[in-house]
Parts: sequence; C-alpha cells; structure tokens
Amino acid sequence: MSTLPHELSADDWDEQKFPRPEVQEFDHVVERAISRRGFLGGALAFGSGAAVMGTAMFKGSTALADGHARFAFEQLAAQTDGTVHVPEGYSWKVLVRWGDPLFSDAPAFDAQNAHPSEGSDRVFGENTDGMELFNVDGKELLVVNSEYPNPKINLPHTEDGMPTSAEDVKLLQNIQGVSVMELAEGADGWAVVVDSPYNRRIHHNTPMVLDGPAAGHDLLKTDADPTGTQSLGTFNNCGSGRTPWGTYLTCEENFNGYFGATAEVASDEAVMAGFKRYGVSTDVEPGRYNYHGFDARFDIATNPNEPHRAGYIVEIDPAKPDAAPVKHTALGRFKHENAAYALTNDNRVVVYMGDDERGEFMYKWVSNGTYTEGGDTSGLLSDGQLYTAKFNDDLSGEWVALTPDATGMDAAHIAIFTRTAASAVGATTMDRPEWIAVNPTAPEAYCCLTNNSRRGATDDDGNVKANKGGDVMSVNAPNPRELNNYGQIVRWRPEGGDHGASSFAWDLYVMAGNPDVHAGTPYAGSENINSGNLFNSPDGMQIDTTGTIWIQTDGKDSNEGDFAGMGNNQMLAGDPVTGEIRRFMTGPNGSEVTGLTWSSDRRSMFVGIQHPGVPFPDGENSLPRSAIVVIKRDDNELLG
Ligand code: FEO
Ligand code: CA
Ligand code: CA
Repeated sequence: MSTLPHELSADDWDEQKFPRPEVQEFDHVVERAISRRGFLGGALAFGSGAAVMGTAMFKGSTALADGHARFAFEQLAAQTDGTVHVPEGYSWKVLVRWGDPLFSDAPAFDAQNAHPSEGSDRVFGENTDGMELFNVDGKELLVVNSEYPNPKINLPHTEDGMPTSAEDVKLLQNIQGVSVMELAEGADGWAVVVDSPYNRRIHHNTPMVLDGPAAGHDLLKTDADPTGTQSLGTFNNCGSGRTPWGTYLTCEENFNGYFGATAEVASDEAVMAGFKRYGVSTDVEPGRYNYHGFDARFDIATNPNEPHRAGYIVEIDPAKPDAAPVKHTALGRFKHENAAYALTNDNRVVVYMGDDERGEFMYKWVSNGTYTEGGDTSGLLSDGQLYTAKFNDDLSGEWVALTPDATGMDAAHIAIFTRTAASAVGATTMDRPEWIAVNPTAPEAYCCLTNNSRRGATDDDGNVKANKGGDVMSVNAPNPRELNNYGQIVRWRPEGGDHGASSFAWDLYVMAGNPDVHAGTPYAGSENINSGNLFNSPDGMQIDTTGTIWIQTDGKDSNEGDFAGMGNNQMLAGDPVTGEIRRFMTGPNGSEVTGLTWSSDRRSMFVGIQHPGVPFPDGENSLPRSAIVVIKRDDNELLG
C-alpha cells in the first residue's frame, strides 16, 4: 500500500521526494566501519576513542552543591504501551489536547470527526512542539508551537486527506502555528484559562513583519506585498526559544512542504537553485498539502518569492496580544529547529541554531547591540553577525563569519540563501542538528544530532553522498559513524568561557547506540549508554536551572532489531559532569516527546506529546490527539 505525501513525516517525505540510491544493509556496514582504517583513525584522534566514549568529557561546574543528588528519581524502565509513564513519586495529567478551546465560542471537538473549518482558529493547535512559559503581571502564559497537521484526521470527508476546497486548506492553515494561552493552577491541577485576554492563535494567515538585511529586498516582494516587509503566517513551527526580555521565538522548519506549482516554474538561476537547496518542489503535482491548488499565494508558478518569506526565526511578544510577530531575517533562512540564547561577556545577544536536514549546518548569531535589562530591545535581533560552525578533528572548532567577503554574497542573499553561504565557507556537515541548549550553570552548549541514515553512504559509483548543496557527507569527527541511525549529542565550550568567542573546544556528550545488539562496535554507543537507558534519535533538549540536561527523543520505537530494548520515545535526564543519563518519562507508542518548560515556581513540568500512534489520551472511541501533559512530584518539591 503506498503512503500519501502528507501521511509521511517531513523527513520521510523528503527522502521519497528526493530519492538517493539504496544504502547498504546495516549490519554489513557496521562490520566494515569498525575495520576501516579511516574510522579507527578518526576515533584515535579523540585519544583512543576515549573522549568519544565519555571518559575525557569536560569537567564542568554546576549549580548543585556537593552531596546533593543530581537525580531524585529511580530510572524508569522502557515502555511499549499507549500511555505516559513517569517514575515512582511523580504523577502526570493532561493539560490540553489539540482541539481544546482557548475561547468559549470555539466549536466543541468531535472525537470522531475533529473540527469544522469555522472556529478552527479558536482552539489549541495540532501537533504540539516547542514551548516556553512566561510570567506576565503574575499570569502564567504558555506559548506553544503546532508544527504540522494530520490532514487525514482533520479532513475526514475527503478520501485521502488531500484538501478538496479552499475551505479545507483554511482548516489546515488554522490548526498550525502558535498558541498563546493563560494557565492557572487550581485544586484539580493546571488548566487553560478560557477567554483570557492573553489567549491568541497565530497561524498561516496571521499578519507579521519582516525585518533585518533581507527586508524590502526584491526577492521578498510579492504582488500582495510590493514592499517585501509584510508577511502572512508562520510555518512548520518546530522548536522554540526565548529572549532575556520575555519574548518567544518560534522556529520555521520544513516550510518547503507548503509550496507547490500548478504550472511549469521559470525563474532566475539563484531562485531555482534556492528551490533545489531548500527542497521546494517545482513539479506540477498536489505535493504534500496541495495548498497551491486552492490558495495562489503558495503557487510558486505565480508567486516564486513567497517561499523566500518563510524559514526564519519569528519573535512573538506574549504580553502584547495585538502586536504583530516579527520575522528576523538577520538570523538566516534555513530549516530552523530551535533558538537557544546566551549573552556574551559584554552583554551582546547570542542565538545558537541548528538546520535540521542531513548534512546541513550549525549556526551562531551575535547581535551588534548590547542587552540592558529594561532597555530598548526592539532592534536587538535585527542587526548582528551570523556564523556557521567548523569542527576540527583535534576537538577544537571555529565559528566562521558569513560576511560578503567570505561568501561572495551580499547581506540580503546571505540572509535568504544562508545554506549556500555556509557551504561557501566550508561549514562542517552535521547529522541533522535538532535542538541546542545552553547550560545556565557552566559556559557550554549542547546540540542534538538526531541521526543521518546517509552519513558516509555511497552511491552506485562508490561516491560518498552529499547534502542538497553538494557538500559531501563523509564521516567527520563530531559525526563519526556511517549510516548513523542512533544519533549523538555534541557539546562545545567557547574559548575563555565567552559565548562571543569565535573558537571553541568540543566533545561528544553521548553517542546513542545499542550495546546489547552491537557490543564492541561504535554502534554500541558511548560509555554512558547501557541496557537500562537505551534510546535513539535525541531531538528536543532543555537544560534546567541546576544544569540537568533533559533529552527528548523522536526515533524508531519498534523496540526490535537495532532498536530492541529502547521502547517508546521518551525523555531522559543527563548529568553534565558525570555523563550519567537516566530515563525519566516515556510517551505513548507512535508519539514523539517534544517540548519542555516549567511553571514559574519550578514545581510543574509541561511536556509535549506529538502525533501519538494510538488513541491517546482519551482511549478508544476517540481520535489520537497530540497533548501537553503536566508532571509534578507527589511531594510538590522542585523539578529543576
Ligand atoms: Fe521539527 Fe527537526 O524537528
Ligand atoms: Ca524536533
Ligand atoms: Ca526529529
């Protein structure tokens, strides 16, 4: 049975849309990888592989006092069922599900048929992802991304979930984007404050502003917006970030999937090359969601510049429900995962970002202006310098500035075709950079490199495969395994402990793997992986105020073969000093665990459950619904 484009994950869709030759059989390749001189040489460069395996990790300071246990819980066993599990001494509850009302005039959710189009922008969006909590005037405001829709579930009147009218498209557009909602904790726990004046839905048609070096450029102008400075909608909102001044950053990831062509596309060379590099399909076909069949804005045959207005970091002020979100082109255009801020020693704003696609890059942006508490922050994310990461085999690395001199591109083109600029300076191809987290207790940051099934793979002619820009994806020091189905987390420390420094030292905090299946090979994982804490495909990540690293997964949950013993996707806690990793929570089968934030009193954790594969959380006779759950300690103690 063939799978329709919108039934696939963005990743699998991309794989199908841009096929590469078949890869070798996994076990055979493992055997080859460990006997290959090249791989061993690479491992030796870390010091007999010890650094990779965890024994030469940075020794960092943390906020925990001596003698205070890092983990207040016993490790949870892997789970394979259809619900959420937390360790003994903790409990969980559903906070909000896709389709729950933010306003009292919202239509009631139909457990079998979801929503009508009317009022679909008045409810909590689908497929919850990154989120952050803000306390505004004593009110707890949760801001949450809704990454993508499940059309088959949302459009039950269609045979295959493909929109058949403008009304269908509007429904899909309404249930994605960002939800802002006030929360309050009462005797029955946390709940959404329906009709709060702070509640807000931002979706694919919400007016927003473009600023930074690309704003007003010809490549951003459309018939509807001849100024190139006003845009409608934010797309494929994946991970999140926040600023020190209390605004939310939503990160546009697989924006390419919303655009398509109703006729042959003819545009200039740079535009056509951009479509190819970013995966915007020029084929005349319904594509992933067929927006373009009913909404001309998404038809690149008539609106070739519309995709240039997506793929950015977007700033939203939860305290101002009427303020237009701002798309910051200065921070570059790529498949943004999340945005993790730090401050330089002289108080400039640093934003670390990953581009989640096989063989794409990691980025850092540094503002020109400095942040002062209570000062004017309105232009801080509009003007600064973008860098991309280059990792060396000797555990050093550099942030290479994407300047016109270095790239041969002007500032607007660097902002719009950022991937091309980073390729021009020889950035290190990575195994799909997902979330980055900055440790608030030590000068270091971490990036989840989720997996890369094509790393080191060869085509029929024996050539190592490349990313969409032609950068060859041979194994390299931070991405040392061929056909990497497990993923790893890279960590770096800026020189002098200053996030403004252009050089850094790095190591691998963990390489996921399976020692029960692949003992004695790099696919067993690093030393901090054992039979008790198996996982694959690290993705979401936050570091709490004590320095504990919370790792969420979006991987294979078959629990067999290479993935035996891993169970469902999960959330684990990591110690930045000892490297110990313990499983804390598991999600329902088929789901991804993504998005994590805390109540202001740090006694509640909010965790996202995306695309459950079973009728979670309401059981049989209900559709599967993505949801946010609240986790508390039974003794109501602090949770990080
Ligand atoms: Fe939306 Fe890369 O995860
Ligand atoms: Ca993710
Ligand atoms: Ca992922």
